[in-house]
Amino acid sequence: MKGDYQIIDHSFDVVVVGAGGAGLRATFGMAEAGLSTACLTKVFPTRSHTVAAQGGMSAALGNMGEDDWRFHMYDTVKGSDWLGDQDSIEYMCRNAAAAVYELEHYGVPFSRTEEGKIYQRAFGGMTTHYGEGQALRTCAAADRTGHAILHTLYQQALKHDAQFYIEFFALDLIMEGGECKGVIAIDMATGIIHRYRAKQVVLATGGYGRSYFSATSAHTCTGDGNAMVLRAGLPLQDMEFVQFHPTGIYGAGCLITEGARGEGGYLTNSEGERFMERYAPNAKDLASRDVVSRSMTIEINEGRGVGPDKDHIHLHLEHLGADLLDERLPGISESAKIFAGIDVTKEPIPVLPTVHYNMGGIPTNYHGEVLTLRDGDPDSVVSGLMAIGEAACVSVHGANRLGSNSLLDLIVFGRAAALRAKETVDPSEPMSSFSEDVGKETLERLDKLRYADGSRSTAEIRLEMQRTMQAHCAVFRTGEVMNQGVDKLAATAASFADVKTTDRGLIWNTDLIETLELENLLSQAVVTMNSAANRDESRGAHARDDMPDRDDENWMKHTLTWCDEQHNTTIDFRPVHAYTMTDDVEYIKPKPRVY
Ligand code: FUM
Repeated sequence: MKGDYQIIDHSFDVVVVGAGGAGLRATFGMAEAGLSTACLTKVFPTRSHTVAAQGGMSAALGNMGEDDWRFHMYDTVKGSDWLGDQDSIEYMCRNAAAAVYELEHYGVPFSRTEEGKIYQRAFGGMTTHYGEGQALRTCAAADRTGHAILHTLYQQALKHDAQFYIEFFALDLIMEGGECKGVIAIDMATGIIHRYRAKQVVLATGGYGRSYFSATSAHTCTGDGNAMVLRAGLPLQDMEFVQFHPTGIYGAGCLITEGARGEGGYLTNSEGERFMERYAPNAKDLASRDVVSRSMTIEINEGRGVGPDKDHIHLHLEHLGADLLDERLPGISESAKIFAGIDVTKEPIPVLPTVHYNMGGIPTNYHGEVLTLRDGDPDSVVSGLMAIGEAACVSVHGANRLGSNSLLDLIVFGRAAALRAKETVDPSEPMSSFSEDVGKETLERLDKLRYADGSRSTAEIRLEMQRTMQAHCAVFRTGEVMNQGVDKLAATAASFADVKTTDRGLIWNTDLIETLELENLLSQAVVTMNSAANRDESRGAHARDDMPDRDDENWMKHTLTWCDEQHNTTIDFRPVHAYTMTDDVEYIKPKPRVY
Protein backbone atom coordinates (compact mmCIF):
# COMPACT_ATOMS: atom_id res chain seq x y z
CA MET A 1 0.00 0.00 0.00
CA LYS A 2 1.22 3.47 -0.83
CA GLY A 3 -0.81 5.44 1.70
CA ASP A 4 -1.04 5.49 5.49
CA TYR A 5 -4.47 5.25 7.04
CA GLN A 6 -5.60 6.11 10.53
CA ILE A 7 -8.12 3.57 11.83
CA ILE A 8 -10.70 4.08 14.58
CA ASP A 9 -12.69 1.12 15.96
CA HIS A 10 -16.25 1.23 17.33
CA SER A 11 -18.71 -1.26 18.79
CA PHE A 12 -22.49 -1.05 18.53
CA ASP A 13 -25.33 -3.51 18.86
CA VAL A 14 -26.60 -2.30 15.48
CA VAL A 15 -25.10 -0.36 12.61
CA VAL A 16 -27.51 0.95 9.99
CA VAL A 17 -25.94 2.04 6.69
CA GLY A 18 -28.05 4.68 4.98
CA ALA A 19 -30.35 7.40 6.32
CA GLY A 20 -33.24 7.48 3.85
CA GLY A 21 -36.77 6.52 4.87
CA ALA A 22 -35.95 2.87 5.61
CA GLY A 23 -32.63 3.59 7.31
CA LEU A 24 -34.02 6.28 9.61
CA ARG A 25 -37.11 4.23 10.52
CA ALA A 26 -34.88 1.29 11.40
CA THR A 27 -32.37 3.49 13.24
CA PHE A 28 -34.78 5.02 15.69
CA GLY A 29 -36.70 1.76 16.05
CA MET A 30 -33.49 0.00 17.08
CA ALA A 31 -32.53 2.82 19.45
CA GLU A 32 -36.03 2.87 20.92
CA ALA A 33 -35.67 -0.88 21.58
CA GLY A 34 -32.67 -0.16 23.79
CA LEU A 35 -30.00 -1.26 21.33
CA SER A 36 -26.90 0.89 20.94
CA THR A 37 -27.32 2.05 17.35
CA ALA A 38 -25.12 3.85 14.85
CA CYS A 39 -26.30 5.18 11.50
CA LEU A 40 -23.68 5.82 8.80
CA THR A 41 -24.72 7.90 5.84
CA LYS A 42 -22.86 9.28 2.85
CA VAL A 43 -25.12 12.33 2.63
CA PHE A 44 -26.71 14.46 5.33
CA PRO A 45 -29.85 12.46 6.36
CA THR A 46 -32.37 14.94 4.99
CA ARG A 47 -30.57 14.90 1.62
CA SER A 48 -31.15 11.15 1.20
CA HIS A 49 -33.02 10.27 -1.99
CA THR A 50 -36.31 9.63 -0.13
CA VAL A 51 -36.54 13.42 -0.05
CA ALA A 52 -37.33 13.33 -3.77
CA ALA A 53 -40.36 11.02 -3.46
CA GLN A 54 -43.37 12.98 -4.59
CA GLY A 55 -46.76 11.35 -5.00
CA GLY A 56 -47.30 9.50 -1.76
CA MET A 57 -47.53 6.36 0.32
CA SER A 58 -50.19 3.72 -0.23
CA ALA A 59 -52.43 2.39 2.55
CA ALA A 60 -56.04 1.23 2.42
CA LEU A 61 -57.33 3.82 4.91
CA GLY A 62 -60.59 4.24 3.04
CA ASN A 63 -60.67 7.98 3.78
CA MET A 64 -62.05 8.93 0.39
CA GLY A 65 -64.04 5.86 -0.60
CA GLU A 66 -64.26 2.19 0.17
CA ASP A 67 -60.98 0.31 0.57
CA ASP A 68 -59.50 -2.80 2.14
CA TRP A 69 -55.91 -4.01 2.66
CA ARG A 70 -56.90 -7.22 0.80
CA PHE A 71 -57.65 -5.16 -2.33
CA HIS A 72 -54.24 -3.55 -1.90
CA MET A 73 -52.63 -6.97 -1.54
CA TYR A 74 -54.33 -8.21 -4.72
CA ASP A 75 -53.18 -5.14 -6.67
CA THR A 76 -49.62 -5.53 -5.44
CA VAL A 77 -49.52 -9.22 -6.40
CA LYS A 78 -50.98 -8.45 -9.83
CA GLY A 79 -48.68 -5.45 -10.28
CA SER A 80 -45.70 -7.69 -9.47
CA ASP A 81 -46.79 -9.94 -12.37
CA TRP A 82 -46.93 -12.75 -9.81
CA LEU A 83 -43.23 -12.62 -9.00
CA GLY A 84 -43.79 -11.03 -5.57
CA ASP A 85 -43.63 -13.21 -2.44
CA GLN A 86 -47.17 -13.24 -1.13
CA ASP A 87 -46.26 -13.69 2.54
CA SER A 88 -44.24 -10.46 2.35
CA ILE A 89 -46.95 -8.68 0.37
CA GLU A 90 -49.52 -9.62 2.99
CA TYR A 91 -47.21 -8.34 5.73
CA MET A 92 -46.76 -5.01 3.95
CA CYS A 93 -50.38 -4.36 2.99
CA ARG A 94 -51.93 -5.35 6.28
CA ASN A 95 -49.44 -3.17 8.19
CA ALA A 96 -49.83 -0.20 5.85
CA ALA A 97 -52.56 1.70 7.69
CA ALA A 98 -50.71 1.42 11.02
CA ALA A 99 -47.54 2.66 9.32
CA VAL A 100 -49.30 5.77 7.98
CA TYR A 101 -50.99 6.57 11.31
CA GLU A 102 -47.68 6.12 13.07
CA LEU A 103 -46.10 8.68 10.71
CA GLU A 104 -49.05 11.02 11.24
CA HIS A 105 -48.50 10.83 15.00
CA TYR A 106 -44.78 11.43 14.59
CA GLY A 107 -45.70 14.64 12.81
CA VAL A 108 -45.83 14.11 9.02
CA PRO A 109 -47.95 17.00 7.65
CA PHE A 110 -50.19 14.99 5.31
CA SER A 111 -52.59 16.92 3.07
CA ARG A 112 -56.15 16.83 4.43
CA THR A 113 -59.69 16.26 3.21
CA GLU A 114 -62.45 18.75 4.06
CA GLU A 115 -63.23 16.63 7.17
CA GLY A 116 -59.59 16.74 8.27
CA LYS A 117 -58.74 13.16 7.30
CA ILE A 118 -55.53 12.23 5.49
CA TYR A 119 -55.95 13.07 1.80
CA GLN A 120 -55.60 10.11 -0.60
CA ARG A 121 -55.19 10.21 -4.38
CA ALA A 122 -55.46 7.71 -7.22
CA PHE A 123 -52.30 5.94 -8.39
CA GLY A 124 -51.62 3.41 -11.14
CA GLY A 125 -52.75 -0.15 -10.57
CA MET A 126 -54.53 0.65 -7.29
CA THR A 127 -58.07 -0.72 -7.45
CA THR A 128 -61.03 -1.68 -5.30
CA HIS A 129 -62.81 -5.04 -5.36
CA TYR A 130 -59.96 -6.87 -7.06
CA GLY A 131 -59.75 -4.74 -10.18
CA GLU A 132 -63.32 -3.42 -10.35
CA GLY A 133 -62.97 0.23 -9.33
CA GLN A 134 -60.28 2.88 -8.98
CA ALA A 135 -58.96 3.12 -5.42
CA LEU A 136 -58.02 6.41 -3.77
CA ARG A 137 -55.27 4.90 -1.65
CA THR A 138 -52.15 7.04 -1.90
CA CYS A 139 -51.65 9.26 1.17
CA ALA A 140 -50.00 12.48 0.12
CA ALA A 141 -48.38 15.60 1.50
CA ALA A 142 -49.07 17.62 -1.69
CA ASP A 143 -46.38 16.35 -4.09
CA ARG A 144 -43.59 16.50 -1.52
CA THR A 145 -44.49 13.42 0.52
CA GLY A 146 -40.97 12.00 0.72
CA HIS A 147 -39.66 15.35 1.90
CA ALA A 148 -42.25 15.51 4.65
CA ILE A 149 -41.62 11.93 5.77
CA LEU A 150 -37.84 12.17 5.71
CA HIS A 151 -37.70 15.32 7.82
CA THR A 152 -40.11 13.85 10.37
CA LEU A 153 -38.14 10.61 10.60
CA TYR A 154 -34.88 12.47 11.12
CA GLN A 155 -36.47 14.47 13.93
CA GLN A 156 -37.62 11.22 15.53
CA ALA A 157 -34.17 9.70 15.13
CA LEU A 158 -32.60 12.70 16.85
CA LYS A 159 -35.07 12.31 19.70
CA HIS A 160 -33.75 8.83 20.36
CA ASP A 161 -30.24 7.98 21.33
CA ALA A 162 -28.84 6.93 17.96
CA GLN A 163 -25.34 7.98 16.97
CA PHE A 164 -25.01 9.46 13.48
CA TYR A 165 -21.85 9.28 11.36
CA ILE A 166 -22.68 11.76 8.62
CA GLU A 167 -20.85 11.92 5.28
CA PHE A 168 -19.23 8.55 5.92
CA PHE A 169 -18.89 6.28 2.89
CA ALA A 170 -19.32 2.56 3.67
CA LEU A 171 -16.64 0.50 1.95
CA ASP A 172 -17.28 -3.14 2.84
CA LEU A 173 -19.04 -5.56 5.12
CA ILE A 174 -16.85 -7.32 7.65
CA MET A 175 -17.61 -11.01 7.18
CA GLU A 176 -16.24 -13.89 9.26
CA GLY A 177 -17.23 -17.50 8.59
CA GLY A 178 -20.22 -16.49 6.48
CA GLU A 179 -21.59 -14.18 9.20
CA CYS A 180 -21.66 -10.42 9.09
CA LYS A 181 -19.68 -8.93 11.98
CA GLY A 182 -19.56 -5.27 11.06
CA VAL A 183 -18.79 -2.69 8.45
CA ILE A 184 -15.83 -0.56 7.41
CA ALA A 185 -16.23 3.04 6.26
CA ILE A 186 -14.27 6.16 5.41
CA ASP A 187 -15.04 9.57 6.87
CA MET A 188 -15.06 11.67 3.73
CA ALA A 189 -14.11 14.88 5.55
CA THR A 190 -10.95 13.51 7.14
CA GLY A 191 -10.08 10.31 5.29
CA ILE A 192 -9.99 8.44 8.62
CA ILE A 193 -11.08 4.79 8.36
CA HIS A 194 -13.73 3.61 10.84
CA ARG A 195 -14.31 -0.06 11.63
CA TYR A 196 -17.64 -0.85 13.27
CA ARG A 197 -18.10 -4.11 15.12
CA ALA A 198 -21.84 -4.84 15.29
CA LYS A 199 -24.17 -7.68 16.23
CA GLN A 200 -26.48 -6.58 13.45
CA VAL A 201 -25.67 -4.62 10.27
CA VAL A 202 -28.62 -3.17 8.34
CA LEU A 203 -28.12 -2.08 4.73
CA ALA A 204 -30.50 0.70 3.74
CA THR A 205 -28.41 2.06 0.91
CA GLY A 206 -31.07 2.53 -1.79
CA GLY A 207 -31.07 1.69 -5.48
CA TYR A 208 -28.51 1.95 -8.26
CA GLY A 209 -30.43 4.06 -10.80
CA ARG A 210 -27.23 5.85 -11.76
CA SER A 211 -26.01 2.81 -13.68
CA TYR A 212 -28.31 4.22 -16.41
CA PHE A 213 -27.85 7.40 -18.44
CA SER A 214 -31.25 8.91 -17.64
CA ALA A 215 -32.73 8.34 -14.21
CA THR A 216 -35.00 10.11 -11.76
CA SER A 217 -32.56 8.95 -9.07
CA ALA A 218 -30.10 11.31 -7.41
CA HIS A 219 -26.46 11.06 -8.44
CA THR A 220 -25.86 9.44 -5.05
CA CYS A 221 -27.99 6.39 -5.98
CA THR A 222 -25.11 4.03 -6.63
CA GLY A 223 -26.33 0.95 -4.74
CA ASP A 224 -23.31 0.82 -2.45
CA GLY A 225 -24.86 -1.79 -0.15
CA ASN A 226 -25.76 -4.07 -3.06
CA ALA A 227 -22.17 -3.93 -4.26
CA MET A 228 -20.84 -4.68 -0.76
CA VAL A 229 -23.07 -7.75 -0.69
CA LEU A 230 -21.66 -8.94 -4.03
CA ARG A 231 -18.10 -8.41 -2.77
CA ALA A 232 -19.02 -10.46 0.31
CA GLY A 233 -19.75 -13.39 -2.02
CA LEU A 234 -23.53 -13.16 -1.62
CA PRO A 235 -26.10 -12.97 -4.44
CA LEU A 236 -28.47 -10.23 -5.54
CA GLN A 237 -32.00 -11.11 -6.57
CA ASP A 238 -34.20 -10.23 -9.58
CA MET A 239 -31.86 -7.52 -10.82
CA GLU A 240 -33.28 -7.74 -14.36
CA PHE A 241 -36.37 -5.88 -13.20
CA VAL A 242 -35.68 -2.16 -13.59
CA GLN A 243 -38.63 0.20 -13.48
CA PHE A 244 -38.99 3.04 -15.96
CA HIS A 245 -41.27 5.79 -14.64
CA PRO A 246 -43.47 6.98 -17.51
CA THR A 247 -43.05 10.66 -16.77
CA GLY A 248 -39.50 11.85 -16.43
CA ILE A 249 -39.09 15.39 -17.82
CA TYR A 250 -37.78 15.06 -21.38
CA GLY A 251 -34.06 15.90 -21.45
CA ALA A 252 -33.62 16.43 -17.71
CA GLY A 253 -35.00 13.12 -16.40
CA CYS A 254 -36.53 14.75 -13.27
CA LEU A 255 -39.64 13.07 -11.92
CA ILE A 256 -43.15 14.30 -12.64
CA THR A 257 -45.21 12.37 -10.13
CA GLU A 258 -47.73 9.76 -11.16
CA GLY A 259 -49.94 11.73 -8.77
CA ALA A 260 -50.26 14.19 -11.67
CA ARG A 261 -52.21 11.53 -13.58
CA GLY A 262 -53.88 10.54 -10.30
CA GLU A 263 -55.27 14.08 -10.12
CA GLY A 264 -56.60 13.81 -13.69
CA GLY A 265 -53.61 14.46 -15.95
CA TYR A 266 -53.35 12.50 -19.20
CA LEU A 267 -50.90 11.64 -21.97
CA THR A 268 -51.20 12.42 -25.68
CA ASN A 269 -49.23 11.61 -28.82
CA SER A 270 -48.45 13.83 -31.84
CA GLU A 271 -52.02 13.34 -33.11
CA GLY A 272 -53.40 14.68 -29.84
CA GLU A 273 -54.76 11.19 -29.13
CA ARG A 274 -55.17 9.94 -25.55
CA PHE A 275 -53.48 6.73 -26.62
CA MET A 276 -53.62 4.95 -23.24
CA GLU A 277 -57.30 4.33 -23.94
CA ARG A 278 -56.18 1.94 -26.67
CA TYR A 279 -53.55 0.08 -24.62
CA ALA A 280 -55.37 -0.12 -21.28
CA PRO A 281 -59.09 0.48 -21.86
CA ASN A 282 -59.90 0.09 -18.17
CA ALA A 283 -57.05 1.72 -16.30
CA LYS A 284 -56.06 4.11 -19.13
CA ASP A 285 -53.42 6.61 -17.93
CA LEU A 286 -53.41 4.92 -14.53
CA ALA A 287 -52.35 1.50 -15.77
CA SER A 288 -49.26 0.17 -13.98
CA ARG A 289 -45.96 1.84 -14.86
CA ASP A 290 -44.57 -0.97 -16.99
CA VAL A 291 -47.69 -0.83 -19.17
CA VAL A 292 -47.67 2.97 -19.55
CA SER A 293 -43.92 3.13 -20.25
CA ARG A 294 -44.21 0.45 -22.92
CA SER A 295 -47.21 2.13 -24.54
CA MET A 296 -45.37 5.46 -24.70
CA THR A 297 -42.33 3.75 -26.22
CA ILE A 298 -44.48 2.08 -28.88
CA GLU A 299 -46.07 5.42 -29.76
CA ILE A 300 -42.64 7.00 -30.19
CA ASN A 301 -41.23 4.01 -32.11
CA GLU A 302 -44.22 4.09 -34.47
CA GLY A 303 -43.66 7.77 -35.28
CA ARG A 304 -46.33 9.32 -33.08
CA GLY A 305 -43.99 11.01 -30.62
CA VAL A 306 -44.17 14.78 -30.16
CA GLY A 307 -41.52 17.48 -30.69
CA PRO A 308 -39.24 18.14 -33.66
CA ASP A 309 -37.63 14.71 -33.34
CA LYS A 310 -40.91 12.97 -32.45
CA ASP A 311 -39.10 11.46 -29.48
CA HIS A 312 -41.27 12.19 -26.47
CA ILE A 313 -44.88 12.44 -25.26
CA HIS A 314 -47.08 15.19 -23.81
CA LEU A 315 -48.51 15.14 -20.28
CA HIS A 316 -51.48 17.49 -19.92
CA LEU A 317 -52.35 19.18 -16.65
CA GLU A 318 -53.66 22.50 -18.06
CA HIS A 319 -57.30 21.46 -17.64
CA LEU A 320 -56.85 20.88 -13.88
CA GLY A 321 -56.75 24.61 -13.19
CA ALA A 322 -54.27 26.77 -11.33
CA ASP A 323 -55.89 26.30 -7.90
CA LEU A 324 -55.69 22.52 -7.89
CA LEU A 325 -52.17 22.59 -9.35
CA ASP A 326 -51.11 25.01 -6.66
CA GLU A 327 -52.62 23.00 -3.84
CA ARG A 328 -51.89 19.43 -4.90
CA LEU A 329 -48.98 19.63 -7.36
CA PRO A 330 -46.86 22.67 -6.50
CA GLY A 331 -43.53 20.83 -6.64
CA ILE A 332 -43.89 19.43 -10.13
CA SER A 333 -45.31 22.75 -11.38
CA GLU A 334 -42.03 24.29 -10.27
CA SER A 335 -39.91 21.45 -11.72
CA ALA A 336 -41.68 21.77 -15.09
CA LYS A 337 -40.93 25.51 -15.09
CA ILE A 338 -37.28 25.08 -14.18
CA PHE A 339 -36.40 22.00 -16.22
CA ALA A 340 -38.71 22.29 -19.25
CA GLY A 341 -39.57 26.01 -19.28
CA ILE A 342 -43.26 25.06 -19.14
CA ASP A 343 -46.15 26.81 -17.42
CA VAL A 344 -48.27 23.80 -16.48
CA THR A 345 -51.44 25.88 -16.36
CA LYS A 346 -51.04 26.62 -20.09
CA GLU A 347 -48.94 23.95 -21.81
CA PRO A 348 -48.34 20.18 -21.67
CA ILE A 349 -45.12 18.86 -20.10
CA PRO A 350 -42.73 16.98 -22.43
CA VAL A 351 -42.10 13.59 -20.83
CA LEU A 352 -40.30 10.32 -21.48
CA PRO A 353 -40.01 6.98 -19.60
CA THR A 354 -37.00 7.29 -17.30
CA VAL A 355 -35.27 4.80 -14.99
CA HIS A 356 -36.84 5.19 -11.57
CA TYR A 357 -36.63 2.13 -9.34
CA ASN A 358 -34.87 -1.20 -8.89
CA MET A 359 -37.22 -4.02 -8.01
CA GLY A 360 -34.16 -6.25 -7.55
CA GLY A 361 -31.69 -6.09 -4.71
CA ILE A 362 -30.52 -7.99 -1.65
CA PRO A 363 -32.82 -10.97 -1.02
CA THR A 364 -34.55 -10.82 2.37
CA ASN A 365 -37.50 -12.23 4.26
CA TYR A 366 -40.17 -9.91 5.65
CA HIS A 367 -38.19 -9.42 8.85
CA GLY A 368 -35.47 -7.78 6.77
CA GLU A 369 -33.03 -10.67 7.27
CA VAL A 370 -30.74 -11.26 4.30
CA LEU A 371 -31.15 -14.61 2.57
CA THR A 372 -28.86 -16.75 0.51
CA LEU A 373 -28.96 -20.16 -1.10
CA ARG A 374 -27.02 -22.43 1.23
CA ASP A 375 -26.96 -26.24 1.19
CA GLY A 376 -30.03 -26.26 -1.03
CA ASP A 377 -32.00 -24.01 1.35
CA PRO A 378 -33.24 -20.95 -0.59
CA ASP A 379 -34.34 -19.17 2.59
CA SER A 380 -31.11 -19.52 4.50
CA VAL A 381 -30.50 -16.43 6.69
CA VAL A 382 -27.12 -14.67 6.61
CA SER A 383 -26.45 -14.14 10.29
CA GLY A 384 -25.89 -10.53 11.37
CA LEU A 385 -27.07 -8.94 8.12
CA MET A 386 -30.32 -7.20 7.22
CA ALA A 387 -31.36 -5.15 4.21
CA ILE A 388 -34.36 -2.85 3.83
CA GLY A 389 -35.80 -0.31 1.41
CA GLU A 390 -34.86 -0.15 -2.25
CA ALA A 391 -31.58 -1.95 -1.53
CA ALA A 392 -33.60 -5.01 -0.52
CA CYS A 393 -35.67 -7.44 -2.56
CA VAL A 394 -38.23 -8.66 0.00
CA SER A 395 -39.84 -9.35 -2.56
CA VAL A 396 -43.00 -7.28 -2.41
CA HIS A 397 -42.65 -5.65 -5.82
CA GLY A 398 -41.75 -8.73 -7.85
CA ALA A 399 -41.31 -7.82 -11.50
CA ASN A 400 -42.91 -4.39 -11.26
CA ARG A 401 -43.60 -2.01 -8.37
CA LEU A 402 -46.83 -0.07 -8.07
CA GLY A 403 -46.39 3.65 -7.52
CA SER A 404 -46.59 4.68 -3.84
CA ASN A 405 -45.72 1.19 -2.61
CA SER A 406 -42.10 2.29 -2.19
CA LEU A 407 -42.56 4.76 0.66
CA LEU A 408 -44.74 2.12 2.27
CA ASP A 409 -42.05 -0.54 1.84
CA LEU A 410 -39.45 1.76 3.45
CA ILE A 411 -41.51 2.40 6.56
CA VAL A 412 -43.05 -1.04 7.04
CA PHE A 413 -39.79 -2.94 6.60
CA GLY A 414 -37.64 -0.37 8.43
CA ARG A 415 -39.96 -0.94 11.38
CA ALA A 416 -39.99 -4.73 10.81
CA ALA A 417 -36.19 -4.84 10.96
CA ALA A 418 -36.23 -2.97 14.29
CA LEU A 419 -38.85 -5.33 15.69
CA ARG A 420 -36.79 -8.35 14.63
CA ALA A 421 -33.55 -6.95 16.06
CA LYS A 422 -35.32 -6.36 19.38
CA GLU A 423 -35.97 -10.12 19.47
CA THR A 424 -32.63 -11.35 18.18
CA VAL A 425 -29.96 -8.90 19.41
CA ASP A 426 -28.98 -9.18 23.04
CA PRO A 427 -27.42 -5.91 24.28
CA SER A 428 -25.90 -7.65 27.30
CA GLU A 429 -23.96 -10.09 25.16
CA PRO A 430 -20.27 -9.12 25.08
CA MET A 431 -18.84 -7.92 21.78
CA SER A 432 -15.76 -9.73 20.51
CA SER A 433 -12.87 -7.57 19.33
CA PHE A 434 -11.39 -7.18 15.85
CA SER A 435 -8.12 -8.72 14.85
CA GLU A 436 -5.61 -6.10 13.73
CA ASP A 437 -5.89 -6.87 10.02
CA VAL A 438 -9.67 -6.86 9.65
CA GLY A 439 -10.49 -4.82 6.55
CA LYS A 440 -6.98 -5.13 5.08
CA GLU A 441 -8.28 -6.13 1.63
CA THR A 442 -10.68 -3.21 1.69
CA LEU A 443 -7.90 -0.77 2.46
CA GLU A 444 -5.79 -2.25 -0.33
CA ARG A 445 -8.67 -1.72 -2.76
CA LEU A 446 -9.13 1.86 -1.58
CA ASP A 447 -5.41 2.55 -1.83
CA LYS A 448 -5.19 1.10 -5.33
CA LEU A 449 -7.94 3.42 -6.54
CA ARG A 450 -6.52 6.43 -4.70
CA TYR A 451 -3.27 6.03 -6.61
CA ALA A 452 -4.75 4.63 -9.84
CA ASP A 453 -2.79 5.89 -12.79
CA GLY A 454 -4.34 4.23 -15.82
CA SER A 455 -5.56 5.78 -19.04
CA ARG A 456 -9.36 5.98 -18.57
CA SER A 457 -11.10 8.57 -16.44
CA THR A 458 -13.87 7.63 -14.02
CA ALA A 459 -16.30 9.81 -16.00
CA GLU A 460 -15.43 8.11 -19.31
CA ILE A 461 -16.00 4.58 -17.97
CA ARG A 462 -19.18 5.66 -16.18
CA LEU A 463 -20.68 7.23 -19.30
CA GLU A 464 -19.89 4.14 -21.36
CA MET A 465 -21.63 1.94 -18.77
CA GLN A 466 -24.64 4.25 -18.56
CA ARG A 467 -25.09 4.40 -22.33
CA THR A 468 -24.84 0.62 -22.64
CA MET A 469 -27.45 0.09 -19.92
CA GLN A 470 -29.76 2.66 -21.52
CA ALA A 471 -29.47 1.08 -24.98
CA HIS A 472 -29.29 -2.62 -24.13
CA CYS A 473 -31.43 -3.09 -21.01
CA ALA A 474 -34.31 -0.68 -21.64
CA VAL A 475 -38.11 -0.68 -21.72
CA PHE A 476 -38.13 -3.20 -24.58
CA ARG A 477 -35.47 -5.88 -24.82
CA THR A 478 -34.48 -8.70 -27.16
CA GLY A 479 -32.06 -11.55 -26.61
CA GLU A 480 -29.76 -10.18 -29.30
CA VAL A 481 -29.70 -6.64 -27.87
CA MET A 482 -29.11 -7.88 -24.32
CA ASN A 483 -26.35 -10.28 -25.35
CA GLN A 484 -24.60 -7.43 -27.13
CA GLY A 485 -25.02 -5.49 -23.89
CA VAL A 486 -23.42 -8.34 -21.91
CA ASP A 487 -20.31 -8.19 -24.14
CA LYS A 488 -20.10 -4.40 -24.16
CA LEU A 489 -20.43 -4.18 -20.39
CA ALA A 490 -17.85 -6.92 -19.87
CA ALA A 491 -15.38 -4.79 -21.85
CA THR A 492 -16.31 -1.63 -19.94
CA ALA A 493 -16.04 -3.40 -16.58
CA ALA A 494 -12.67 -4.88 -17.53
CA SER A 495 -11.41 -1.41 -18.43
CA PHE A 496 -11.92 -0.35 -14.81
CA ALA A 497 -8.53 -1.99 -14.16
CA ASP A 498 -7.13 0.89 -16.25
CA VAL A 499 -8.91 3.70 -14.39
CA LYS A 500 -7.12 6.93 -13.58
CA THR A 501 -7.74 9.09 -10.54
CA THR A 502 -5.99 12.41 -10.03
CA ASP A 503 -6.58 13.46 -6.42
CA ARG A 504 -4.19 11.60 -4.10
CA GLY A 505 -5.43 13.27 -0.92
CA LEU A 506 -7.81 11.99 1.73
CA ILE A 507 -9.71 15.17 2.60
CA TRP A 508 -12.96 15.36 0.64
CA ASN A 509 -11.50 13.29 -2.18
CA THR A 510 -14.63 13.22 -4.35
CA ASP A 511 -12.57 11.84 -7.23
CA LEU A 512 -11.86 8.75 -5.13
CA ILE A 513 -15.44 8.46 -3.83
CA GLU A 514 -16.88 8.71 -7.36
CA THR A 515 -14.48 6.00 -8.47
CA LEU A 516 -15.54 3.75 -5.60
CA GLU A 517 -19.16 4.43 -6.56
CA LEU A 518 -18.41 3.58 -10.17
CA GLU A 519 -16.88 0.29 -9.08
CA ASN A 520 -20.12 -0.40 -7.19
CA LEU A 521 -22.28 0.55 -10.16
CA LEU A 522 -20.30 -1.62 -12.56
CA SER A 523 -20.85 -4.86 -10.66
CA GLN A 524 -24.59 -4.13 -10.41
CA ALA A 525 -24.83 -3.21 -14.10
CA VAL A 526 -23.11 -6.48 -15.04
CA VAL A 527 -25.45 -8.44 -12.77
CA THR A 528 -28.50 -6.65 -14.19
CA MET A 529 -27.56 -7.22 -17.82
CA ASN A 530 -26.65 -10.88 -17.31
CA SER A 531 -29.78 -11.60 -15.28
CA ALA A 532 -31.89 -9.93 -17.98
CA ALA A 533 -30.24 -11.83 -20.83
CA ASN A 534 -30.89 -15.04 -18.93
CA ARG A 535 -34.66 -14.61 -18.39
CA ASP A 536 -36.42 -16.17 -21.37
CA GLU A 537 -39.85 -14.63 -20.97
CA SER A 538 -41.61 -11.27 -20.52
CA ARG A 539 -42.76 -10.38 -17.01
CA GLY A 540 -43.43 -7.00 -15.45
CA ALA A 541 -40.70 -4.54 -16.34
CA HIS A 542 -38.75 -7.21 -18.26
CA ALA A 543 -40.45 -6.96 -21.65
CA ARG A 544 -38.89 -8.96 -24.48
CA ASP A 545 -40.00 -8.31 -28.04
CA ASP A 546 -38.74 -11.75 -29.02
CA MET A 547 -40.44 -13.56 -26.10
CA PRO A 548 -43.58 -11.55 -25.38
CA ASP A 549 -45.34 -14.09 -23.15
CA ARG A 550 -45.09 -14.66 -19.43
CA ASP A 551 -43.98 -18.24 -18.82
CA ASP A 552 -45.21 -19.26 -15.37
CA GLU A 553 -44.28 -22.87 -15.89
CA ASN A 554 -40.57 -22.22 -16.27
CA TRP A 555 -39.94 -18.73 -14.98
CA MET A 556 -42.03 -18.06 -11.92
CA LYS A 557 -38.86 -17.98 -9.86
CA HIS A 558 -36.45 -15.40 -8.48
CA THR A 559 -33.11 -14.98 -10.19
CA LEU A 560 -30.10 -15.07 -7.86
CA THR A 561 -26.90 -13.69 -9.36
CA TRP A 562 -23.39 -13.67 -7.91
CA CYS A 563 -20.55 -11.61 -9.38
CA ASP A 564 -16.85 -12.13 -8.69
CA GLU A 565 -14.01 -9.60 -8.79
CA GLN A 566 -13.43 -10.23 -12.51
CA HIS A 567 -17.13 -9.59 -13.15
CA ASN A 568 -17.91 -13.22 -13.94
CA THR A 569 -21.49 -13.98 -12.99
CA THR A 570 -23.14 -17.15 -11.69
CA ILE A 571 -26.92 -17.55 -11.83
CA ASP A 572 -29.23 -19.73 -9.75
CA PHE A 573 -32.84 -19.42 -8.57
CA ARG A 574 -35.12 -19.24 -5.54
CA PRO A 575 -38.77 -20.29 -5.67
CA VAL A 576 -41.38 -17.55 -5.38
CA HIS A 577 -43.23 -17.86 -2.05
CA ALA A 578 -46.54 -19.20 -3.29
CA TYR A 579 -48.16 -18.89 0.12
CA THR A 580 -49.47 -16.13 2.35
CA MET A 581 -48.34 -15.16 5.83
CA THR A 582 -51.60 -16.06 7.60
CA ASP A 583 -54.74 -18.03 6.91
CA ASP A 584 -56.72 -14.78 6.69
CA VAL A 585 -56.08 -14.62 2.96
CA GLU A 586 -55.57 -17.23 0.29
CA TYR A 587 -52.72 -17.42 -2.17
CA ILE A 588 -53.68 -15.34 -5.22
CA LYS A 589 -53.33 -17.56 -8.26
CA PRO A 590 -51.69 -16.18 -11.41
CA LYS A 591 -54.03 -14.75 -14.02
CA PRO A 592 -53.40 -13.74 -17.61
CA ARG A 593 -52.66 -10.06 -18.08
CA VAL A 594 -55.65 -7.81 -18.67
CA TYR A 595 -55.28 -4.06 -18.45
O1 FUM B 1 -44.76 9.18 -9.25
C1 FUM B 1 -44.39 9.26 -8.09
O2 FUM B 1 -44.76 10.13 -7.32
C2 FUM B 1 -43.50 8.23 -7.60
C3 FUM B 1 -43.89 7.45 -6.62
C4 FUM B 1 -43.26 6.14 -6.42
O3 FUM B 1 -42.34 5.79 -7.15
O4 FUM B 1 -43.72 5.39 -5.55
